[in-house]
Amino acid sequence: MMKVEDIKREFLSIYGEGDVAVYFSPGRVNLIGEHTDYNGGFVFPCALSFGTFLAVRKIEEKVVKFRSANQDFATKLSFNQLTTPQGKEWVNYPLGVINQFFKKGIELNTGLELYFNGNVPNGAGLSSSAALEVVTAYALNDVLGTDLERVELVKMSQKAENEFVGVNCGIMDQFASGMGKANHAIFLNCDTLDYELVPIELEGVKIVISNTHSPHKLDAGKYNERVAECKAAVEKIREIMPINLLGELSVEDFASVESTITDDVIRRRAHHVVTEIKRTRDAVDALKAGKVEEFGQLMNASHTSLRDDYEVTGTALDTMAEEAWKIDGVIGSRMTGGGFGGCTVSLVRDEAIDSFIEKVGANYEKRTGIKPDFYVAEIGNGASKLN
Ligand code: GLA
Repeated sequence: MMKVEDIKREFLSIYGEGDVAVYFSPGRVNLIGEHTDYNGGFVFPCALSFGTFLAVRKIEEKVVKFRSANQDFATKLSFNQLTTPQGKEWVNYPLGVINQFFKKGIELNTGLELYFNGNVPNGAGLSSSAALEVVTAYALNDVLGTDLERVELVKMSQKAENEFVGVNCGIMDQFASGMGKANHAIFLNCDTLDYELVPIELEGVKIVISNTHSPHKLDAGKYNERVAECKAAVEKIREIMPINLLGELSVEDFASVESTITDDVIRRRAHHVVTEIKRTRDAVDALKAGKVEEFGQLMNASHTSLRDDYEVTGTALDTMAEEAWKIDGVIGSRMTGGGFGGCTVSLVRDEAIDSFIEKVGANYEKRTGIKPDFYVAEIGNGASKLN
């Protein structure tokens, strides 16, 4: 585990002696409720114990310096360069956040030296990008003394990604990174942003994350295509029912209007969203009632819906989930995050964890030729300043 002292030491060796403040914001794993957030539905993610650190110092020179332990690209931008995206570089994430401050009429009253160091596996679909955005928003808010509320910083981080990076993501990842609480998952209504922190007390069961190492691409294409398909479904349904978001429809409502969507692909996309929202609510109810097996069944059903109706899984994720389903002691397993590669999340009984890692690992590698990684998740807190 990385320590604040290490980050500080690295910062000082890059930028020289002096003061430095360190902030942290976590990645997330979503237990259930996938591709529902931008449809105004429910999600159920939790913050992880790994994430992105940001060390910051104010300087007199009117520039912002960007460095990262994870990426080669580094740059120094004068204030008037801060509104221009830098190609496809990682700095667009923090830059996008800085621009959200500008949009609120908040100017930089100081130059900054920034050093990022993240331990979320990149491209694993565990929201390294949200962690990067939220840690920037949280740190800037503190350094500039702007006193914005946490949830406002979360919204700004999402907008940074929408407007500066060009991914039309929903709010789940940034919300989990900003608002998470150790040992709790967040049952979030993505339309109203009302949320409930639900304790995750799984007696004898752990959350295991399996990394397919089949990269979930940072490129926006397929993701934005799904967002557009959901909009197309709403447009069709509006011809007979006044809705703004698929999340307004119950499964029964959808059954009564789905025949109006003549395009089979669009209908299946909407079917996934509407049923996934129900699965998410049911899963949270099951968990609260101590029915963990039922929770697991809903996770499995979520995966098949994402595979068949939403078509965001692909061979790597399907193989990983199928191999997990074969193991005794696996309560449920599904892809997590945006899809097209990345990770699965599984609930696994303590006594089965070793054989899970061994067997799923070997079988997945045999079938795909890729060596996977496994992490037993610890649910951590949202963004914070470290001392
Ligand atoms: C990505 C996006 C989220 C969400 C998930 C799918 O992680 O950033 O907003 O849409 O995909 O549930």
